[in-house]
Amino acid sequence: MEAVYGFPPPELAMPGSGARQLSPLVPGAEAIEDLPDGALTRLVIQAPPGTLERRYVLAHGLRALEPDGVLIALAPKTKGGARLGAELAAFGGEVRQDARRHHRICQLRRPAHPAGVADAIAAGAPRVLPALCLWTQPGVFSWDRIDPGTRLLLGHLAGLAGRGADLGCGLGVLALRALESAAVSDLVCADIDRRAVDAARRNITDPRARFLHADLRGTAPGLEGLDFIVMNPPFHDAGQEDRGLGLAFIAAAAAVLRRGGVCRMVANVALPYEGRMKAVFAQARLVAQGGGYKVYEGVR
Ligand SMILES: C[S@@+](CC[C@H](N)C(=O)[O-])C[C@H]1O[C@@H](n2cnc3c(N)ncnc32)[C@H](O)[C@@H]1O
Repeated sequence: MEAVYGFPPPELAMPGSGARQLSPLVPGAEAIEDLPDGALTRLVIQAPPGTLERRYVLAHGLRALEPDGVLIALAPKTKGGARLGAELAAFGGEVRQDARRHHRICQLRRPAHPAGVADAIAAGAPRVLPALCLWTQPGVFSWDRIDPGTRLLLGHLAGLAGRGADLGCGLGVLALRALESAAVSDLVCADIDRRAVDAARRNITDPRARFLHADLRGTAPGLEGLDFIVMNPPFHDAGQEDRGLGLAFIAAAAAVLRRGGVCRMVANVALPYEGRMKAVFAQARLVAQGGGYKVYEGVR
C-alpha cells in the first residue's frame, strides 16, 4: 500500500496513483497514527516546517513502512528542508539527497530497526501543556501559547447567546470562553486540522459543544441560522500567506448566521478585512484595537 502526507509538488516527488492521503489537514483522510506497523510499501511526505511535528511525522512514517519500504520526504530549504537529511539519517539507513526548486528531497529505505522512532513520536504527540491547562499538539496553530490576537478577542466575547460556532477553533480557546455564557445553547467547534479538533474535543467537555472536522471554504454541514460566530481566521495556507482564506471565513460566517446574528472576529491590523465585513454584514464596526490586532463585530 502506498500513501502520501500532504501535497508535495508533483514535479519533485510523485505519490503512486491510489496513494492514500494521511494529512491531518485533509478532512476524510486516514490518520498516519492509525496505520499498523509495516503497512506501507512507499510513502511520500511533504514534511511540515516545525521540528517536533516534522520528526513526529517522519517517525510515524518509518514505523508504518515495511522493512526496506521507500520513504521520500521533501521540504523547502527554509522550512525544515535544510535539516531534513540529518534528521532522517539519525533514524538510521542511508539517505539520498537531491536539491531542486528550493527544496531538499530525501529518500531512504526503511532500516530494519530505525533508531529513535518512539522518542520522536513521544516528543510530537498530543499532551496537556501545564502552562495552558489545555490539550495540544505540536503543529496545531499556536500550540504552546495563546495567540495575541486570540487574547484580544477573549476580552470581547461578552453577551453571546443562542446557537453559535467557533470557525477555525484550534485548541478551543475562544469556544471555552463563549461557553462561559449560560445563554449559549450550543456551539460548533470547526477546524480543518484534525489534531486541533481532537484537542478541542478533549479541552471542551461541555455537552453544549459539537465538533466538526471540515474545510470552511466549502459548505459546512449542519451550520445554518446561527445566532453568533467567534473566529480568529487563518491567513496562512500550507505555510504561505493567503488573505483569501480570511475573506472566505468572513463569507462563511455571513452565510451561516441568521439575519441579526453576530460575528466577533479578530485579525492582524495589516489585513484588509474591513471592506469585506462591510460588504457582507448589515453593520460592521471596529470594537477594539491593540498589539497589532483589531476586533470587529459584524451584524448580519
Ligand atoms: C488563527 S488560527 C485560530 C485558532 C483558534 N481559534 C485560536 O484562536 O487559537 C486559525 C485556525 O483555522 C484553521 N483553518 C485554516 N484553514 C481552514 C479551513 N480552510 N477550514 C477550516 N479551518 C481552517 C487552522 O487550522 C487554525 O486552527
